[in-house]
Amino acid sequence: MFRHSVRTIATTARRAAAVAPAAAKPPSPHTIAVSKAQGIAKGLTGAIGNTPLIRMNKLSEQTGCEVLGKAEFMNPGGSVKDRAALYVVLDAEERGLLKPGGTVVEGTAGNTGIGLAHVCRSRGYKLVIYMPNTQSQGKIDLLRLLGAEVYPVPAVAFDNPQNYNHQARRHAESLDNAVWTNQFDNTANRRAHIETTGPEIWTQTEGKVDAFTCATGTAGTLAGVTRYLKDVSNGRVKSYLADPPGSVLHSYIQSGGKLVERTGSSITEGIGQGRITDNLAPDVALLDGSVHIADEKSIEMVYRALDEEGLYLGASSALNVVAAKEVAELMGPGHTVVTMLCDGAYRYADRLFSRKWLESKNLLTAIPKHLEKYIVLP
Ligand SMILES: Cc1ncc(COP(=O)(O)O)c(C=O)c1O
Repeated sequence: MFRHSVRTIATTARRAAAVAPAAAKPPSPHTIAVSKAQGIAKGLTGAIGNTPLIRMNKLSEQTGCEVLGKAEFMNPGGSVKDRAALYVVLDAEERGLLKPGGTVVEGTAGNTGIGLAHVCRSRGYKLVIYMPNTQSQGKIDLLRLLGAEVYPVPAVAFDNPQNYNHQARRHAESLDNAVWTNQFDNTANRRAHIETTGPEIWTQTEGKVDAFTCATGTAGTLAGVTRYLKDVSNGRVKSYLADPPGSVLHSYIQSGGKLVERTGSSITEGIGQGRITDNLAPDVALLDGSVHIADEKSIEMVYRALDEEGLYLGASSALNVVAAKEVAELMGPGHTVVTMLCDGAYRYADRLFSRKWLESKNLLTAIPKHLEKYIVLP
């Protein structure tokens, strides 16, 4: 052990000597600075979070504000949900609900499942996923190839006992050493953002952030970041919920707390909600307002972000960017507005860049003429 360590140190020293002369050269204008986040991560889970905060240059010029997007698509599983996945698993471990070799069960159709699959593989747990059978074969295949056992079940309402979430809970209850991670109402999800995303945004903006906005699925992100930024700034930082069609939260906030029946739908995935989840409940009163973003604006921003910023964003991220632009306009020039770039367009490209699909959603005319060149799929 000791001899091995000495040899390792000697080898490292020789390698360091070999690279020293190059490192001593003055940096070129293109040198990429090495930040703390680029040190060695302890396994996959150590690589979750610490994502860059990207200035959206065109939108910032247009609004006179600093419009910044947190590049969550750079997490190992490709989305913001890696943070929640890590925290719900760590929380189950800490509470003694999950022991080595145990099983994690979740009801999810998307990114949380992918995040959980990575986290479970890296920590040696089995993963069982229940999802509505309306989801694409691509999603099912991806989860299976990441090692998950997947059960597509009939898509029925939450109050039906056969709803995929209830089936996930019952599956976990039927096994020893198993946990239903329950992302919607498990507040370890919100805690991930109080302890990581919020502090990252505060540090990256050197405390200059004036407003935060994002859409909600579980609301872990919005609630956790809002809570942290309100606390650290003594309430100075404003926070706005962004809502797609088919979600009830915008009307809930605008009406001062009336929940209406869910109607309509959206092209965005992973966001939109029909109730106040346990993750949102403690912080909903902290919100300063909400913005409703139509699908026409979200899809236009998918194309604009690609053309103007070189960012390949999924529709929920594009919605968030539209919301950040609207919040910037509301606050006026000179402010710093932060939002979340939840995931990339990779998982949705066959729809977002397909002419037929855009036509089927009546969204073809939402794409400005000069951006039609990006509609590359039939
Ligand atoms: C693409 C995407 N955007 C946004 C969200 C919403 O994040 P949260 O669940 O923290 O509200 C999700 C959640 O699954 C998602 O998959």
